Amino acid sequence: MSLIEKFKSNGSSGFGYGSTAEEVTEGISLSGKTILITGCNSGLGFEAMRVLCMRGAQVIGTSRSLEKAKEACAKTQGKTIPLACELSDPASVRACVATIIQQGHRLDAIICNAGIMALPKLEKAHGLELQFFTNHIGHFILVTGLLDQLKEDGRVVMVSSSAHKMAPKGGIQFDNLSGDQGYIPWTAYGQSKFANILFAKQLAKKFAGTKKTANAIHPGVIKTNLGRHMNPVMNLVFGMVGPLFLKSQAQGAATEVYVATHPSLASISGSYFADCNTSQPRSDAEDAELAKKLWDVSENIVAGL
Ligand SMILES: NC(=O)c1ccc[n+]([C@@H]2O[C@H](COP(=O)([O-])OP(=O)(O)OC[C@H]3O[C@@H](n4cnc5c(N)ncnc54)[C@H](OP(=O)(O)O)[C@@H]3O)[C@@H](O)[C@H]2O)c1
Repeated sequence: MSLIEKFKSNGSSGFGYGSTAEEVTEGISLSGKTILITGCNSGLGFEAMRVLCMRGAQVIGTSRSLEKAKEACAKTQGKTIPLACELSDPASVRACVATIIQQGHRLDAIICNAGIMALPKLEKAHGLELQFFTNHIGHFILVTGLLDQLKEDGRVVMVSSSAHKMAPKGGIQFDNLSGDQGYIPWTAYGQSKFANILFAKQLAKKFAGTKKTANAIHPGVIKTNLGRHMNPVMNLVFGMVGPLFLKSQAQGAATEVYVATHPSLASISGSYFADCNTSQPRSDAEDAELAKKLWDVSENIVAGL
């Protein structure tokens, strides 16, 4: 048990910091459900896929390449469908969408889990800063392409981060989406995770009046491959003291799995969750006008790709 876990009690949902993905799905049958998760080959995505399958769901697991997705699915017991979805390559995302449509899958949930963090130097895809492109634009293409495949009570879960609080003033630097006007690794990561929250907000607005839901989550802080761009000393320290202070991967996967599947959340939409309970994001991440602006700008970007 980590020190934090010891002192944090469960929230009103009955779950909390220490809950695992297995615990939040205990007694829930996901048989007959199909759930797509991006980034299924590593960290939280792999654990989430394992538990979703364990509860009977068929999981469409996507990775940057078909080989990685196949390898992850082969290690998972249950019904899995591996697909390639390289989020920084619109052609790959669109091919993934086309395959799902062509195979006729109806989706109970889409978990936008894949992500990259704090690239030390500015990198770009299609003229845009790479974290913004991968974490936000790639998922924007995927989810908007699959809206017709979502079942009438389908759920979209955006895996954001408490690091959205590191986003620049105003949340999104619309005049610097390329990063050319200045690049700070954590600010750029924060902006991409801020975008995940705004996207869920605007999608929830579009879903209003239906049974579909869209929410964003913070999984906690967990040692995974996400830290690969952090400096080696930080990674070493994380590795050594991590077990004392960080969540395990089983705990880290809990919130996304909970929000994607728990029956008690059937009508909760447009919210932000942490530790398997609703939580408050930075106040400007709740700005409806900003969410609409990001949606419109993203739509324009995607139309030009
Ligand atoms: N771990 C934490 O403490 C923490 C905290 C807050 C939020 N999060 C969020 O949690 C999510 C999962 O992260 P994690 O901790 O499980 O990290 P991880 O182990 O690094 O897993 C990230 C996944 O995203 C995939 N990915 C990266 N770039 C991609 C791209 N261009 N196209 C498609 N897939 C791509 C990775 O594929 P490869 O293996 O091929 O690179 C991997 O499967 C991320 O969205 C992250 O921002 C994590």
